[in-house]
Amino acid sequence: MTGRKIIMDFEVTPTSHLLADYRARGGYDTLARALREMRPEQITKEVTASGILGHGGAAFPAGRKWGVIKLNDEQPHYLCANADEGEPGTFKDRWILENAPHLLLESMLIAAYALQVHHAFVYIRGEFDLPYRRLAAAVEEAYEAGLFGEGILGTGFACDIVIYRGAGSYVCGEASALITSIEGRKGYPRNRPPRLTVRGLYQKPTVINNVETLSNVVAIVRGGGEAFRTVGTAKSPGTQLVSISGHLNKPGVYEVEYGYPLAKFIHEDCGGVLGGAKLKCIVPGGISTKVLTAAEIEHVTYDHVSLTAAGSGVGSGGMVVIAEGTCMVRLLQILLRFYHHESCGQCTPCREGMGWMHRIIDRIVEGRGQPDDIEQLIRISKANDGTTICGMGDAAGYATLGIIAKYRDEFEYYIEHGRSKLGGRIEVETAEALHG
Ligand SMILES: Cc1cc2nc3c(=O)[nH]c(=O)nc-3n(C[C@H](O)[C@H](O)[C@H](O)COP(=O)(O)O)c2cc1C
Ligand code: SF4
Repeated sequence: MTGRKIIMDFEVTPTSHLLADYRARGGYDTLARALREMRPEQITKEVTASGILGHGGAAFPAGRKWGVIKLNDEQPHYLCANADEGEPGTFKDRWILENAPHLLLESMLIAAYALQVHHAFVYIRGEFDLPYRRLAAAVEEAYEAGLFGEGILGTGFACDIVIYRGAGSYVCGEASALITSIEGRKGYPRNRPPRLTVRGLYQKPTVINNVETLSNVVAIVRGGGEAFRTVGTAKSPGTQLVSISGHLNKPGVYEVEYGYPLAKFIHEDCGGVLGGAKLKCIVPGGISTKVLTAAEIEHVTYDHVSLTAAGSGVGSGGMVVIAEGTCMVRLLQILLRFYHHESCGQCTPCREGMGWMHRIIDRIVEGRGQPDDIEQLIRISKANDGTTICGMGDAAGYATLGIIAKYRDEFEYYIEHGRSKLGGRIEVETAEALHG
């Protein structure tokens, strides 16, 4: 057991994603109560009181985001669930879309009522097949049951929903790029201000939340914000769906209560490292978070404070476990190939920097590394920090700096000898794990 459950608190069966099963578990009762008994601003108050932090990577307080929306400003507001889930190693929103699509939809309806939204969107990763089909079927069921459209549950509230499928761009998961993509343009991130809650989709106030963040709204409204806070830690209320993969005996998606011991989670709940190998390090929350060595995680608990103090973060909840014997030079090559491929090209430091870093790491791996290559990688990473429109430029730099700081000897050996210090015993599995 990895602590108390909020999202995964039911048994998954072949029919548990369907409306009938969801209703039998009390599904849509919270929506009915919210629409009949609560004012919109009361709901935002509960979400703020819950202290829930965004689960999409940046850990921004959801209540603070919702609080920016002015309810009676006589203009449309929009709500988007971010189901792009493109961060390598991350596949936890997928669990919700496949197994609990109505939990997301009920949560979105409550959020829409709180924010006085009449048109909601789900932006879903283009490569998702089963999650898309399950969600689309759930939307259809919900419309047939009068849960979307006009006069929802016999009240005066109206809300429609559109599922928008992405086309495979990682950057479209970034909130402003997601909006331009829904608008039918190229998915380019844009500078802030103005914030998206002020000028977002179609230039109107827009709330974008991660699928998991939104899926917690039912529990928050059902029990109240204060009750929600009793789960997790003071600064990280609630739980996190962690998708864990790599050199691990029991990979999968686990719901982890914040504050749970990280080493226990990996070694006991997830069955430990494959083949009884020793743990080398982990990527704790998507490849944009810095690696933590086995020694560094020994006393870490799974929450924002503890992971930040250790020098990394919860990120997107996508954890990758890396066994002793894995070549970190090859691992960085895989990451940099990804970032280079995904750079949208708007910002010079990201567009050019990713290309330079990718070429440098390729030549190191090919045995043509040069003495200054490590310093070059560090210089380029630092030049990206804070100089780009979206967080991708920074993230690639953090990942690179994190790996080099902890495994510099492997890079030096590779450059000097033209081959890996470790022989790359399980490189291929690492590549697969990182590409999800
Ligand atoms: C390059 C990039 C990719 C991102 N991809 C995702 C994604 O796939 N899913 C997601 O929820 N957030 C993603 N984000 C974060 C979003 O910009 C945004 O912070 C998030 O959707 C807000 O929801 P939250 O506050 O509930 O976390 C990405 C950010 C960046 C910079
Ligand atoms: S940082 Fe990279 S991905 Fe983000 S907007 Fe700039 S060029 Fe595009």
